[in-house]
Amino acid sequence: MQTQQLSLFPYLEPETAPRPPDFIPIYEPWLGKREEQYVLDAVRSGWISSLGKYVTRFEQQFAAFCGVSHAVSVSNGTTALHLALHALGIGPGDEVIIPSLTFIASANAVSYTGATPVFADVDPATWCVDPADVARLITPRTRALMPVHLYGHPAPMDALNHLAERHNLLVVEDAAEAHGAEWQGRRVGGLGRIAAFSFYANKTITTGEGGMLTTDDASLAARCRMLRDHAMPPEKRYWHDEIGFNYRMTNLQAALGVAQMERIEEFIQRKRQIVRWYCQGLADIPGIALPVEAQGCTNIYWMFSVLINHPFPLGRDQLILALRGQGIDSRPFFHPMDTLPPYRTAVPRPVSLALSRAGLNLPSSPSLTAEQVRHICAVIRAIAQPAGVAQPALSPIPNPQSLPAL
Ligand SMILES: Cc1ncc(COP(=O)(O)O)c(C=O)c1O
Repeated sequence: MQTQQLSLFPYLEPETAPRPPDFIPIYEPWLGKREEQYVLDAVRSGWISSLGKYVTRFEQQFAAFCGVSHAVSVSNGTTALHLALHALGIGPGDEVIIPSLTFIASANAVSYTGATPVFADVDPATWCVDPADVARLITPRTRALMPVHLYGHPAPMDALNHLAERHNLLVVEDAAEAHGAEWQGRRVGGLGRIAAFSFYANKTITTGEGGMLTTDDASLAARCRMLRDHAMPPEKRYWHDEIGFNYRMTNLQAALGVAQMERIEEFIQRKRQIVRWYCQGLADIPGIALPVEAQGCTNIYWMFSVLINHPFPLGRDQLILALRGQGIDSRPFFHPMDTLPPYRTAVPRPVSLALSRAGLNLPSSPSLTAEQVRHICAVIRAIAQPAGVAQPALSPIPNPQSLPAL
């Protein structure tokens, strides 16, 4: 069987390894002529570092997209988080509550400031931080809450903002995975004091590497701008009142970003359409739980993710191998932060742990075709239903326009 030739952890194989032509990757950036044209324009202009028209344009477009007054571009999502926390004065002795189930950059950004990340459990339905657990973890040292809009689903901002007000805490959104997600009709990025986004190649829009901070607080935005540029005040060259960082985005990256922003609404719509195809193709398979969209929220499904549990005949990791054998890439959920060596605690948060063991990200590129999604679902269905058991025919995928809202 083909899978036997693969390593036990196929998702750790280098992403540049040769692939058969019909291999379906977990994610592919969608780059077109406009991206080429703008990057070439930036190259030809000679403005290839962090000064240049595309940086300003990208920041303005992104602020408008999030419905906030200010956007500050940076070198990646991790530096965005670090800069936000540092600019807010978070440092040694402080505690910042973050979800246990997240990517390690969330925890590391807190650690870079000298503060301590404290891990709250997540909600079993939305996979985002559970405000009840957050409330239990607040101490006199807590300075900030950093909810993560995990896999594109917005965190419960009403309950979190309420807690923040009551305990005088700052709210920093980790929106690295959730460009365009909405909570009660408002886009993430403007739901706390400041928010951080990532534009890594697998994000809904990409600049290769890149990040952005969004806020309605003009003085905080100005402080972030200064700190990202070695803490040099714009009006006083080579003067530095404090230690800053070089966290600037280049004009080349921003050129990509401007082109991607011109299509971001299309990407989001396509991703939601892909989710409808998946949900139809995977409906009613015992042991597969489909992702949800909580009331009042718009999930942008950065990743189309499912939970694999009994009675599905394979465990999550076995399914990853089986899919890989059929030319389909997938990823396990993140490990809970409190199970990882730098952050290990005696008792990891239980819901995060259970989700981490069951969660699977399926291919989620906006360029996926209905045919590819149908193929992925058929492979999973065939694994779920042993030979001889009648399989329901997959009905043709309807015109997405005619599908009801999720
Ligand atoms: C939740 C979360 N936070 C932060 C980051 C860091 O972003 P970057 O990889 O651009 O540094 C990521 C990256 O995937 C992420 O998923």
